[in-house]
Amino acid sequence: MGFGFRWMIVAISVQFLIVAGEYFKPFNVSYDHRALIIDGKRRMLISAGIHYPRATPEMWPDLISKTKQGGADVVETYVFWNGHEPVRGQYYFEGRYDIVKFVKQVGSSGLYLFLRIGPYVCAEWNFGGFPVWLRDVPGIEFRTDNVLFKDEMKRFVKKMVDLMKEESLFSWQGGPIIMLQIENEYGNVESSYGSRGKNYMRWAAKMAVGLDAGVPWVMCKQVDAPEYIIDACNGYYCDGFKPNSDKKPIFWTENWDGWYTSWGDRVPHRPVEDLAFAVARFFQRGGSFQNYYMYFGGTNFGRTSGGPNYITSYDYDAPVDEYGLLSQPKWGHLKDLHAAIKLCEPALIAVDSPQYIKFGSKQEAHVYREIVHSSGQKLSLYESKCSAFLANIDEHKSVTVKFLGQAYTLPPWSVSILPDCKNVAFNTAKVGAQTSIKTVRFNDINDPAYLRMMVPNQVTRISESWNSVKEPIGVWSNSNFTFHGILEHLNVTKDRSDYLWYTTRIHISDEDISFWKDNQLSPALNIHSMRDLVYIYVNSQFTGGAKGKWIKVVQPVNLTQGYNDITLLSQTVGLQNYGAFLEKDGAGFRGQIKLTGCKSGDIDLTEFMWTYQVGLKGEFLKIFSTDDNISAGWTEFPRDAIPSNFSWYKTHFDAPGGVDPVVLDFRSMGKGQAWVNGHHIGRYWTLIAPKDGCKPCDYRGSYDSDKCTTNCGKPTQSWYHIPRSWLKATDNLLVIFEETEKTPFEISIKSGFSETICANISENYYPPLNAWSSPNNTSGKISPNTLIPELHLQCDAGHTISSIEFASYGTPRGSCRKFSKGSCHAPNSFSVVSEACKGRNSCSIAVSNAVFGGDPCHRVVKTLSVEIRCSSSSYIGSALMK
Ligand code: GAL
Repeated sequence: MGFGFRWMIVAISVQFLIVAGEYFKPFNVSYDHRALIIDGKRRMLISAGIHYPRATPEMWPDLISKTKQGGADVVETYVFWNGHEPVRGQYYFEGRYDIVKFVKQVGSSGLYLFLRIGPYVCAEWNFGGFPVWLRDVPGIEFRTDNVLFKDEMKRFVKKMVDLMKEESLFSWQGGPIIMLQIENEYGNVESSYGSRGKNYMRWAAKMAVGLDAGVPWVMCKQVDAPEYIIDACNGYYCDGFKPNSDKKPIFWTENWDGWYTSWGDRVPHRPVEDLAFAVARFFQRGGSFQNYYMYFGGTNFGRTSGGPNYITSYDYDAPVDEYGLLSQPKWGHLKDLHAAIKLCEPALIAVDSPQYIKFGSKQEAHVYREIVHSSGQKLSLYESKCSAFLANIDEHKSVTVKFLGQAYTLPPWSVSILPDCKNVAFNTAKVGAQTSIKTVRFNDINDPAYLRMMVPNQVTRISESWNSVKEPIGVWSNSNFTFHGILEHLNVTKDRSDYLWYTTRIHISDEDISFWKDNQLSPALNIHSMRDLVYIYVNSQFTGGAKGKWIKVVQPVNLTQGYNDITLLSQTVGLQNYGAFLEKDGAGFRGQIKLTGCKSGDIDLTEFMWTYQVGLKGEFLKIFSTDDNISAGWTEFPRDAIPSNFSWYKTHFDAPGGVDPVVLDFRSMGKGQAWVNGHHIGRYWTLIAPKDGCKPCDYRGSYDSDKCTTNCGKPTQSWYHIPRSWLKATDNLLVIFEETEKTPFEISIKSGFSETICANISENYYPPLNAWSSPNNTSGKISPNTLIPELHLQCDAGHTISSIEFASYGTPRGSCRKFSKGSCHAPNSFSVVSEACKGRNSCSIAVSNAVFGGDPCHRVVKTLSVEIRCSSSSYIGSALMK
């Protein structure tokens, strides 16, 4: 026995010597039926989804720090196989794909990491994360019991696990990784693969665990996951979720806090009151790990957007917006929620299953009270650990319930959190956090709004001079080839470009022409089925187009006597990222392509010789690069020139001063792609969302992605993010490829920030969450309810409060930008707020009579409403000088 003990010490110290943790003291992660167990202790964990390639490495530290400040414990990311292995066997881990750097940054911030390797990830990411070359492995079938697929998958998953080990990034090595995921929602498609599906799922689980990563693995939406894998829930709500074994904890791998957007659609938003309700209900009903999908959504730069048809922005209505600015009140309200849940953690981890109290058909409480057996002495509420969640799931009514002798009024569709089973620290429907309204400012010297804001040397603008070069229609190089029949789009392009030209030639006789004339008919091109977008040209003239997913197209065409060239431009707009049999889906055309209405009947063009040309000349010349040696044939494009479709344009611009995020305003354009200093900004498309269907949003009741939408009648996406790190101060190269006849002169560079900020807090609102952790409060002698609520305001970094637009302590009415004084108003409201806030980046004001020089109206609940304006700190000087 002594012998064994000695060996254990040696083994432990060797492990410490070899892998002394860089970020944490090495710790083990396991789980029981209640929670993850981190270093021997159960934990309630808040996780935040951030996909590293949807931001630049320069943005990562700030995003991670905002995540931490927002009260998360864990950062979650997928791994993007097609980004890491663009060519089979050639790995790429640089720039936005420097995953090791990302994980290390998470570790050094003190947060944990949940790595979802997939390697199928869905994620509205091109081809769901699969490299397109994977389809070309002869005999391969994705995500099923196919040895070729399994070999490739295993090779990549092992590569990632080994890489993380080599870099000492697992918890037992002192790194931040506490949990891994294999596959992604395979349960949704498993039955499509019959018994092979089940075999594959079991294989994937076993393969993953066999890699000896030393931390737990999860599978999401996998009700039949094996006993050694945690099956987890994804959705808008997961509070009713039960894993498939009572030995497993209740985990929520994707809490959809917003939704993605398609070109031409309305933009979805999820109200934070409902989101907070969903999270509180989850922890109330026994959940212990919850991940926001997404905490920061970011941008689908380049051609990484999935599809079909997803926009370049992946903002997702997340708490941190596409540019890395806080989205308020979402971020702030969740921060308060997280603080409230943290206060309950000691009780939540101490109790295996809560006590349940039913108040009414739609009101209930879950009480987590630690029962202390040993001393036999009765402990007071404060000494024993006790936390409670009181829920009202009625969508319409506020209800007052009696809990432990005290009355609590619960707004509709809300949860009150009582960390001490007595005082309400937080209610999901009462938002105290500030609302921020962002303004995007012109970066144009001619815009008066802009001029007012700028000191002269910071005036930056897009040059008035543009160059252009026309993209050929159809064949442009000797890399073209001819084939008898119609080839599947991806088989030809290998996704090196969105574009594939198909050209054929048809002879039209005199007789056909007179047949059409006499019968007043016109022939039509008939495509049996196509996706995502096709443009049809006859003799190089644009004739029509269609967009959709496997739809039929009938396009009347004008043909002349003799030879006619028919050119089809097939386009992908993000490869399919969801569903079974992804490798079989393909793109472009299916079935016959015919010319109908001819004298001799239909002509089957599928039987013709077609010439194929992959991509655009400009793409392959890299016309967008900063390399001056490329001779692209640019010529000056005067302001009065008539624009033609399929044109490249270039110009130069200076970056806006300051630190605000920079965007391109493409509202004047049609469809295309853009590059800044050689970096691919992404696809743009000014498709307009339907005029109707954007309703005012009520947070109450079950959410779905159509419930709360904006942008009706406006372009789905107007602004395209240019990360600051891709910009120089002056002379930035902007190259765009435009498919329609739009002129580039109206394009502008803008920068955006939270300009208007409002907050609204009543005297009966609960005190700031940090009051709970103040030293005076440990014994429970000071009730947090004796503490005074506070109103907080904060401008974005680099901005200060330049004016107070509204301030009233009393009974103000209305909401942000529409506040008005009520019958009760403390006369010094404005001066109190002004004094506390003006010229500062942030300020706090206690909401009480004392602060406003006495009670302005007795026996009335008073509210403080404030609206302020923020300005860039560097502009204030000039504004004041005027
Ligand atoms: C889930 C999927 C995610 C993402 C999400 C929608 O089903 O697992 O990867 O696609 O839907 O945003």
